[in-house]
Amino acid sequence: GAGGVAGGYALAERDRANEPRFDPEAEPALTPSADREGFGGEALSCHGDHQAGIVTVPATHVRHIAYTLRPETDRAAIARMLRLLTGDIEALTAGVAPLADPEPELAERPARLTVTLGVGAELVDRVDPAKRPAWLAPLPAFTLDQLGNGFDGGDLLLIVQADDQLPVAHAARMLHRDLDRFAEVAWVQEGFRQARGAEAKGATMRNLMGQVDGTVNPAPDDADFDSLVWVDSAAGQPWLVGGSAFVLRRIRMELDTWDRVDRPGREQTIGRTLADGAALSNPHGGENAPADFDAKNALGLPIISSAAHIRRATSQDPSERIVRRAVNYDTGHEAGLLFGCYQRDPLRQFVPIQRRLDEADLLNEWVTHTGSAVFAVLPGFRSGETLGAALLA
Ligand code: HEM
Repeated sequence: GAGGVAGGYALAERDRANEPRFDPEAEPALTPSADREGFGGEALSCHGDHQAGIVTVPATHVRHIAYTLRPETDRAAIARMLRLLTGDIEALTAGVAPLADPEPELAERPARLTVTLGVGAELVDRVDPAKRPAWLAPLPAFTLDQLGNGFDGGDLLLIVQADDQLPVAHAARMLHRDLDRFAEVAWVQEGFRQARGAEAKGATMRNLMGQVDGTVNPAPDDADFDSLVWVDSAAGQPWLVGGSAFVLRRIRMELDTWDRVDRPGREQTIGRTLADGAALSNPHGGENAPADFDAKNALGLPIISSAAHIRRATSQDPSERIVRRAVNYDTGHEAGLLFGCYQRDPLRQFVPIQRRLDEADLLNEWVTHTGSAVFAVLPGFRSGETLGAALLA
């Protein structure tokens, strides 16, 4: 499943870029860069109650970079590292070259660049093990998992997103330059959606199995969105209030065998049509008509199979939902989904959903989870503040 958080493009001058906006027709603001032509000049503010890149309208390119802390990176070093990263992120997302950038021209057109920072269990433990939430640990094992391919875990995560690959590459390089002495790269996973402008604004993305992916997903204007996504003070970790939990699963797709299944079979696997993602219970109702899980065919059998992906994935308990924000990946040798999702507590949200899928999801014949990581996404910050300051306080 993917993230299809609906909305428009945030304005550069807003101090809270990640505050949801829902006007897809809104004229995007441009950075004061030399060349204002095209969307490459658009910048999103990195400041706000929450980090940018979580509810921001999904970008075309997403690079997830996980780091392992070097043995000597202690609490004081972590504080220095977070100060350096904060300055880099403020500059790069604004379309300004960070200090001593040897190629400042590459920073000028950020194309809605966001950099979202997450921390793993080891980083929190080096600061203070008492500050680690119970969920900040490897997920419990699922029967069908095939992990151990170098895409598991990590002490620090950068999620670098933009509508153009050039600012993504430049930002990753500038951030790495400052991170190098504190940490080394554990893994990199790069994903994409259709390029900006390739489809209508606000369209739900398609994954590489051809499905419309991201239809039923909590949206920032839902009444319970905040309680699903943002950590609050009741969770007992004051440093993480306004932050979130990010789960990333690398899910390989067996596209060659999938392609041999006939179209009705492929539609029954999910419970939705391939044409426009309408629920099979109401195939002409369009993508957004709710699925009727009780609907029966002439033989009295459920129209949406008992093991259809949407039936297994849907939650009876509304507080169990997650915000999906997945992207496709294709290395040339392997394709699939980088299934990223946000929530307040993965043990109460992602895990019960994935248990149901692991147990009986028609999709399992063609998908395999080959990587797994959990990060605490730091709360947002304001100009003059440092990312993660409350963790170090
Ligand atoms: C729905 C595909 C993995 C959770 C869907 C839909 C598709 C889809 C096509 C229907 C449209 C939509 O509402 O987005 C996939 C594929 C996967 C995958 C291809 C793996 C490669 C997962 C995983 C989870 C998940 C790992 C969570 C553990 C959901 C949820 C829904 C959904 C919660 C909405 C269910 C509802 O209607 O209430 N997925 N998905 N999916 N998926 Fe997945």
